[in-house]
Amino acid sequence: MGFDLPGLLAERSGQGYDLHARYLNPQRPRMLHAIGFDKVYERAEGAYLYDADGRRYADFLSGFGVFGIGHNHPVVRKALHDVLDAELASMVQFDCALLPGLLAERLLQYAPGLDRVYFCNSGTEAVEAAIKFARYATGRTRILYCDHAFHGLTTGSLSVNGATEFRTGFNPLLPDTRLPFGDLDALDAELCKGDVAALIVEPIQGKGVAVTPPGYLAGAAALLRTHGSLLICDEVQTGMGRTGRFFGYQHEGVDPDIVTVAKTLSGGFVPVGATMARGWIFEKVYSSMDRVLVHDSTFGSNAAAMAAGLATLAVIEDEQLVANAERAGEAMMRALEELAGRYEMLADVRGRGLMIGMEFGKPDSLKLRTSWNMLQKARRGLFAQMVVVALFHRHAILTQVSGDHMEVIKLLPTLTIGDDEVAMFTEAFDAVMKDAHRGGGLIWDFGRSLIKQAVTR
Ligand SMILES: Cc1ncc(COP(=O)(O)O)c(C=O)c1O
Repeated sequence: MGFDLPGLLAERSGQGYDLHARYLNPQRPRMLHAIGFDKVYERAEGAYLYDADGRRYADFLSGFGVFGIGHNHPVVRKALHDVLDAELASMVQFDCALLPGLLAERLLQYAPGLDRVYFCNSGTEAVEAAIKFARYATGRTRILYCDHAFHGLTTGSLSVNGATEFRTGFNPLLPDTRLPFGDLDALDAELCKGDVAALIVEPIQGKGVAVTPPGYLAGAAALLRTHGSLLICDEVQTGMGRTGRFFGYQHEGVDPDIVTVAKTLSGGFVPVGATMARGWIFEKVYSSMDRVLVHDSTFGSNAAAMAAGLATLAVIEDEQLVANAERAGEAMMRALEELAGRYEMLADVRGRGLMIGMEFGKPDSLKLRTSWNMLQKARRGLFAQMVVVALFHRHAILTQVSGDHMEVIKLLPTLTIGDDEVAMFTEAFDAVMKDAHRGGGLIWDFGRSLIKQAVTR
């Protein structure tokens, strides 16, 4: 039969949507057709995607944060070619390969206070390990999490998901307790019950781009320590420079007990996740030779993922991407805050580094209020969707609504963007806002067609 990848890609080009409709999650092509996002992308480089007609799109979604260092970075591509050419003995299982050791050594340099790493294949797996490690190390069962939290969708991670729409129909899950976001009194009340293994928290929540209130992480860390419970910082989205520090928790000067990472560590190529923890936690979980495989993953530590991770860290250092995220993020925030002063429906701009949320709110003027109310009645989040669609169709910028039923757009560009991309985005967003605040025209027409779809689905 033989296998010819370039030939296969050329022969079946353009059939992706039909194949998904027939064989994969059928709602994905349906949703993409509905909002006109059904492009066929042929190529990606740096901060940009290119469709079959050669049109360029600025990627401000970056695969939900996977492309921190940009698409198809040449350094990671070379590392992957090299690792394949080396014909290494990978995933032998009964050996101690070099690459996982090297990546663990490098990664831990960014997380003083943490001593060991467990490698797996995704963000949710990193969270699963964190939950198991915390429960075993403390001998307690309950994990606390925050309202609107997102930590992945496998069963353990789903147990600490703060959105009902993800959980419905999958109960019963693990024993858990949802806390109001940023509420230290509620945390203290739960800790006093004495059965809490850990609090898991995103330094900036991906859903809605909610930054932990100043002092919350430090206060939580102190309370948790007092009660013998652990702090798990989920850095799957915020980690590896995204917020302008290597880890999001470093803005607050706290020392978590367990930290999870994934996404950017992959270099945008090879699925990977990592759970970093204090040494004593690993010593408890892996306390004897009998327990060597008590938590493990066949594909974790595979050579391609480890090589991609090492190359990615080298790129982050060489291109000073953490500092760039801080600089570009501040420039973007300044420009967007200026727009917030001009457009009444732009209610809030928030975030850190290159994780930025823009929240829309009810207008004061009567003319706009009628249209706004019409959208809200049909479904909360439609105005934000309207803006995302306008940015895409008119300005070739890919963004996302930051969670179901939220009037928030999230910007998650590659950490490589500079002044050109900041200017391009703010000019485009300004034009879309100007149009929306005129109260009529194309953008609201599209809103009405979204309502029809929302009502008929
Ligand atoms: C904070 C956080 N944790 C965990 C996950 C799950 O990661 P994955 O999709 O790789 O399982 C995500 C994914 O978006 C995330 O943002």
